[in-house]
Amino acid sequence: MYTSKELRKKYLQFFEQNGHAVIASASLIPENDPSVLFTTAGMHPLIPYLMGQPHPKGTKLCDVQKCVRTGDIEEVGDSSHLTFFEMLGNWSLGDYFKEQSITWSWQFLTDKQWLGLDPNRIAVSVFQGDEDCQRDEESASVWQKCGVPKERIFYLPKKNNWWIAGTTGPCGPDTEIFWDTGKPCCGPDCSPACDCGKYLEIWNNVFMQFNKLPDGSYQPLSQKNVDTGMGLERVVATLNGCQSVYEIDLFQDAIKTIEDLSQKQYGQEEKTTKAMRIIADHTRTATFMLGDEIGVVPSNVDKGYVLRRLIRRAVRFARQIGIEPIKLVELCQNYIQLYKDVYPELQQNHDKVIDEFTKEVERFTKTLELGEKEFFKVISHLPTKKVPGGTAFKLYDTFGFPIEITQELATENGYEVDLEGFKQKFAQHQAVSHASNEHFKGGLADNSQATTELHTATHLLQAALRKVLGDEVKQKGSNITTERLRFDFSFHRPVTPDELKEVQALVQDAIDRDLTVDCQTMTVAEAKEQGAIGLFESKYGEQVKVYTIGDFSKEICGGPHAEHTGTMGKFIIQKEQSSSAGVRRIKAVLQK
Ligand code: SER
Repeated sequence: MYTSKELRKKYLQFFEQNGHAVIASASLIPENDPSVLFTTAGMHPLIPYLMGQPHPKGTKLCDVQKCVRTGDIEEVGDSSHLTFFEMLGNWSLGDYFKEQSITWSWQFLTDKQWLGLDPNRIAVSVFQGDEDCQRDEESASVWQKCGVPKERIFYLPKKNNWWIAGTTGPCGPDTEIFWDTGKPCCGPDCSPACDCGKYLEIWNNVFMQFNKLPDGSYQPLSQKNVDTGMGLERVVATLNGCQSVYEIDLFQDAIKTIEDLSQKQYGQEEKTTKAMRIIADHTRTATFMLGDEIGVVPSNVDKGYVLRRLIRRAVRFARQIGIEPIKLVELCQNYIQLYKDVYPELQQNHDKVIDEFTKEVERFTKTLELGEKEFFKVISHLPTKKVPGGTAFKLYDTFGFPIEITQELATENGYEVDLEGFKQKFAQHQAVSHASNEHFKGGLADNSQATTELHTATHLLQAALRKVLGDEVKQKGSNITTERLRFDFSFHRPVTPDELKEVQALVQDAIDRDLTVDCQTMTVAEAKEQGAIGLFESKYGEQVKVYTIGDFSKEICGGPHAEHTGTMGKFIIQKEQSSSAGVRRIKAVLQK
């Protein structure tokens, strides 16, 4: 079997022989670049040099860069998507351009001395041209000179053949190289632009010659660069004629461990195989994130949240195929062993990887246990073997219990879930949230756990303020980002430091008591009768949702909220100031 070690070596050797300096992989955590959470391409760490700053190692570089892309997380489990991958890259910083770049790529791929891939199975795409940049006849003619016939050169629009990281910055037309998997064409228009699976992208050569400005215009860069990116896992799979990237050397230990733990065989059954791939992928990415030289730990915001989501997804799929989640840590061990020579930081951070991974699995297991307890409590009162949609929704909405797990549990216990009913409740919930969340417009933009918990914290804060300062306190505005909450309320004077301390302590106490957040739908009249506080009443429809947090708070609100308060961490008031006449403003955060 052709190994990833061989490919890394050959690639760097080829470009080194052709005058490139080898540079080390940068961290997965981009430095000085708030526009991305993770290094998603080899070009991120090189942006200053693509923009014109001289690189200490010269104008021709090559590297193997660790990358994370989670935008396609739902696709993981098919034959080619991964959330972590290594990108082989060669770089011209104002040095060579199209002709040299394409010629080297062709030589490396097809020459018997290098990869020796069958030239007849290679297809390419080039930029078709538009008002911003001309049609790339130059690249097409170089490809033809190399020996690629016209019918395997596809002209495609910006959507396919233009590369930019995010929305602004260095960019340009690219030419992409595809491996023809041998599958039949999906139709007369079959091309690398469709996702029928016939063409697998293996290398992308970007001709970076523009800087896209925030106003959408393209400004020529001071130098013309080349940025190429070749996905290591895909190319190793291609070289070995594998059906999927999961069959290459890098996944063998992990898949073996997963087979042993689940007592199931990879490749036997579609659903199981997919779950195994997801587990193998997510635990690998988590290992690299935790073991990175800068690193990240699970949390409710930004990078930490992405990591948390990966670990929790792995846990869900592990349960699905009968693996005790805590055992997944063995996969982290596998990966550290496998990669430690190429990425020594994994070994250096060994204990951190194992500890943090274990802690996160335990935390999620606790959430699941609470949900399960509730599930069994609920079904013991059911008159039939059908779990109503509303019940499944409550488990989801207030316990954070994923619907897939409710279904699993139901099936295991001879029950059936009214999925349609669940979907209806879900849609209703979305609609109600939409209607009554007007006051959060622009503030509560997403349902990520971070904002959700800050939203719950806002309710606790309002309740605490009313306990300390009296009923004069009424919400005047609220704005939540993934980082902090901001709460405006009516009060006639500055809040003293001692009062703030008391408010903070009350909220913390409510968090520490791990209160359950409960949601009920009722009429405005009923809500008032129950003593719910609720502002913006004129905006509410007849039916409203009332969120009750233990004995501490009751408020009309569209949600969403945390299922219970215990996971929210440390509540810290950072600032109290005047907002406008008679209105005070508090900014606070949750620290994990
Ligand atoms: N930046 C391009 C990509 O990520 C080529 O390296 O595909």
